Amino acid sequence: MITLVILISGRGSNLTSLLNAAASGAMPARIVGVISNRPDALGLQTAEAHGVPTCVIDHRGFAEREQFDVALAAAIDGFAPDLVVLAGFMRILGKAFVRRYENRLINIHPSLLPAFPGLHTHRRALAEGVRIHGCTVHFVTPDLDHGPVIVQAAVPVLDDDDEATLAARVLAQEHQVYPLAVRWFAEGRLRLRDGRVSLDAPQAGGVVLIAPQLVAG
Ligand code: GRF
Repeated sequence: MITLVILISGRGSNLTSLLNAAASGAMPARIVGVISNRPDALGLQTAEAHGVPTCVIDHRGFAEREQFDVALAAAIDGFAPDLVVLAGFMRILGKAFVRRYENRLINIHPSLLPAFPGLHTHRRALAEGVRIHGCTVHFVTPDLDHGPVIVQAAVPVLDDDDEATLAARVLAQEHQVYPLAVRWFAEGRLRLRDGRVSLDAPQAGGVVLIAPQLVAG
């Protein structure tokens, strides 16, 4: 059983899926703390309802990004987690912070990276006319929305999709793959070499999930 700290900035639907996976035993991990950079993040209420300690480090209280990172790291270290999980955390983290949690800091991004890093991924996917879109769980490196890919889930883009329908289809997959990635990490099955992740003892030979069918073990 490993311990997690989850960082959020808002709604917290990925947080909810992780809380549920931990509660059901689908993920051998205990969520020991939830930290938000926004005091009004809805996910804070969800965490509290689950009896998970919360903490707010409001970025607006810091003149420099580095100072915020230092305060955030202190809050994280107070929980002494094995893994730090970014779940809709909308702040860019500095190099020193990322290095501090090297190989134990993961993020979920709503696109098939390296396509569409940054914001408004669903809008941009529609504008580009791509037929396949999705989400990515990856180890965090100092480059924004970049780093060794742990798992991706792909969804079709339908002719009548708008930003909301496409976002909802991707989000449903996010809620599946994030607990799965944490499970693999907790089971010690992720091997990182030369910037690539491989899965120890894979049951289905790969880590790409094609919605709605899960094909990885
Ligand atoms: C998700 O789409 C996640 O991929 C992105 O921000 C969104 C957060 O949603 N990084 P929620 O707060 O987990 O509901």
